[in-house]
Amino acid sequence: MNWIVHNAKQLHGVISMPGDKSISHRALLHAALAQGTSRIQNFLHAGVTEAMMRCVRDLGVDFEMEPPGGSAQRFGRLIVHGGHLRSPAANLDCGNSGATIRMLMGALAGQRDLVVTLDGSAGLRRRPMKRVAEPLRWMGAELGDTPPLAIHGTPLHGIEYTMPVASAQVKAAILLAALQAEGPTTIHEPGPSRDHSERLLRSLGVSVVNENNTVTLTPPDEPLAAFEAIVPGDISSAAFVFAAAALVPNSKVTVTHVGVNDTRTGILDALVAMGGDVTVSNVREVNGEPIADITVKSSELRGITVDGDLVVRMIDEFPIFAVLASQAQGETIVREAEELRVKESDRIGSLVSELQKLGAQIEERPDGFVIAGPTPLHGAVVDSHGDHRLAMSLAVAGLIAEGATTVTRAEAYRESFPNFVELLQSLGGTVHEAHKSHESHE
Ligand code: S3P
Repeated sequence: MNWIVHNAKQLHGVISMPGDKSISHRALLHAALAQGTSRIQNFLHAGVTEAMMRCVRDLGVDFEMEPPGGSAQRFGRLIVHGGHLRSPAANLDCGNSGATIRMLMGALAGQRDLVVTLDGSAGLRRRPMKRVAEPLRWMGAELGDTPPLAIHGTPLHGIEYTMPVASAQVKAAILLAALQAEGPTTIHEPGPSRDHSERLLRSLGVSVVNENNTVTLTPPDEPLAAFEAIVPGDISSAAFVFAAAALVPNSKVTVTHVGVNDTRTGILDALVAMGGDVTVSNVREVNGEPIADITVKSSELRGITVDGDLVVRMIDEFPIFAVLASQAQGETIVREAEELRVKESDRIGSLVSELQKLGAQIEERPDGFVIAGPTPLHGAVVDSHGDHRLAMSLAVAGLIAEGATTVTRAEAYRESFPNFVELLQSLGGTVHEAHKSHESHE
């Protein structure tokens, strides 16, 4: 499926986002492990979480939507009957979801006598899994390094581990294993990766202490009990809307109920440092996670340098950040961001090649990119590389480009933000599926 995108005049409105992808994954998996019936409101029902839903169901955990047949997103809740996992009859298909396979590795490694093989798409098979398998093996786990990846559940023991990369998926997997291990586990991180697992576990009464990029979990005596959770709106999805509002002239957009956990708000800090007009209001807390309403207005932007902890705190936002930087006065430098090469696409190579097609002055570096701005963008045919975040970033670029932009393989957006087109259109954005656009423009 292709998108056709035209120059937008202005964007206006108040909207809310689907549930946070990272928190939805964690809530479902912890609910599957917990004894009894858990309820998860505003659960993200999208491609990546469907992978987790499918795997959890194949492990013998039942769940349903309330109201029946509905989507948990905005309207209802996901009801999960957890506590009893069984070996599945066939390989588990983790699709394209790195979080699904990595968190399942941690959750299943300590399930005594469970035998399972985790697999996924060709793209997922290429992504690094050894970074999870290695520390789990030090805990006593028996599992492979690459998908199709076999696991034989076995008793585990706690470890002290220093992670070579700041990866929340690795940390989440180790914490899931640590929950079921003998003795405490301590993890040292090189940077502040997202701490949703720690917050969720604390809200469930588990002793998890975070201090200076070190986290220690002491396994509880009793199994996890069922819980109720509300998932905040996804700040990584909101980032596309914030960028569109910042770039399209005379715009003002408010996103309500969006997660503002400090380990995720790097994109807001970057936008403010660039001269963005950002107002954060009504900060409150749900299930130990801060949420807020955020308003962004269009403004002049200037180039900045992004490195160190800020890279970790905005790790999923570089495709949309690059679009912002293409319109900023002066040079923008992104460095120490080599992790981008092992995301849903090589997010340095794919981003640079597609933004160049639209006229951006962007150059690849081994660990990031350099952009000289501002450059007027012009419409072109660009490709998502099958990467949801690249697809939506290119659509936002199309809103400020002269002439029509075609984004090919745009369907990737369904992985994380199923109502992206509908929401953008409600604000005044001019994004259409190809056939609809031909009907209205010919
Ligand atoms: C995620 C962590 C990040 C992020 C991914 C979701 C998570 O990955 O890119 O989209 O839910 O923990 P890494 O842990 O590999 O950096």
